[in-house]
Amino acid sequence: MNKQVIIIGGGGHAKVLLEILIIKKIKVYGFTDLDENRKLSLGKVRLKYLGKDEVIKKFSPKKFDLVNGLGSVGIDTLRKRSQKFMEFKNLQFRFLNVIHPRAIISKDVKDAIALNEGVQIMAGANIRPGSEIGDNTIVNTGASIDHDCHIGTHVHIAPGVVLSGGVEMGDSCHIGTGSLIRNGIKIGREVFVPMGCSVTKNMEAGEVSVRFLNASGQQKANGQ
Ligand SMILES: CC(C)(COP(=O)(O)OP(=O)(O)OC[C@H]1O[C@@H](n2cnc3c(N)ncnc32)[C@H](O)[C@@H]1OP(=O)(O)O)[C@@H](O)C(=O)NCCC(=O)NCCS
Repeated sequence: MNKQVIIIGGGGHAKVLLEILIIKKIKVYGFTDLDENRKLSLGKVRLKYLGKDEVIKKFSPKKFDLVNGLGSVGIDTLRKRSQKFMEFKNLQFRFLNVIHPRAIISKDVKDAIALNEGVQIMAGANIRPGSEIGDNTIVNTGASIDHDCHIGTHVHIAPGVVLSGGVEMGDSCHIGTGSLIRNGIKIGREVFVPMGCSVTKNMEAGEVSVRFLNASGQQKANGQ
C-alpha cells in the first residue's frame, strides 16, 4: 500500500507545497496546525484538519509520511521548523522531498537530493551541477543556486535569491528574498541575511548581514 502524506502547518508555505503534491498526484490525508480554525484548500481540494501537531503521534510512520509545511521568515521561525523536523524524525517518521516539476535541477544534484529528506524546491528554482542541498532545506520560488554550492540542513533560501558558484553555507541560515551572494563566499550556521542584501564577504556563525540596508533596516535586522 502506498503511504499517504500529512502536512504539518496550514499556512501559505503549506499551500505552495500542497500545489506540488497535487501536481505529482501524491495522496494527502490531511494537515495539522496549532490554530484549530485554520483551513487549507486549493481549488476543489479541501484538506481535512487533523488537529494540533501532537495528533501525528496517533498515526503510524509505516503508513504515513510527513511534509514540513511550516514557513519561515527568519532564524526564530527556522528553529521551529527544524525542531518539528527533528521531533518527528525521532519518532521514525520520514519527511518527503517536495520538488516542483518546473524546477531546473542538474541530474547529479537530483540524484543526491533523492537520498535526503524534507528537501523542498519550488517552481522556477534553478540548481546547477556539483551543488548539495541538506535535509529540511527550502529552495524557494525562482531562487538560483549555481555550481558547487554546499547548503546545510534547515536552511531557507527565499524567493529570487541568487547564489553564485562555490558558496558554502552552514545549517539553519535564512537568506532573505532577492539577496545576492558572491561566488566562493563562506557563511556560518544560523546566519540571517535580510531581503535585498548583497553578501560580498564571508560571514561568521550567527551574524546578521546589514550590507546595503538603509539605516532603519539595519537597526531592525539587528533586532533593535
Ligand atoms: C529585516 C527585516 C526582518 C525587518 O523586518 P521588520 O522588523 O518587520 O521591519 P519593518 O518592516 O518594520 O522595517 C523597519 C524599517 O526598516 C526598513 N527595512 C526593513 N527591511 C529592510 C531591508 N531588507 N532592506 C532595507 N530596508 C529595510 C523598512 O523600510 C523600514 O524603514 P523606515 O523605518 O524608514 O520606514 C525584514 O525586512 C526582512 O528582510 N525579512 C525577511 C523577508 C524574507 O526573506 N521573507 C521570505 C518569505 S518566503
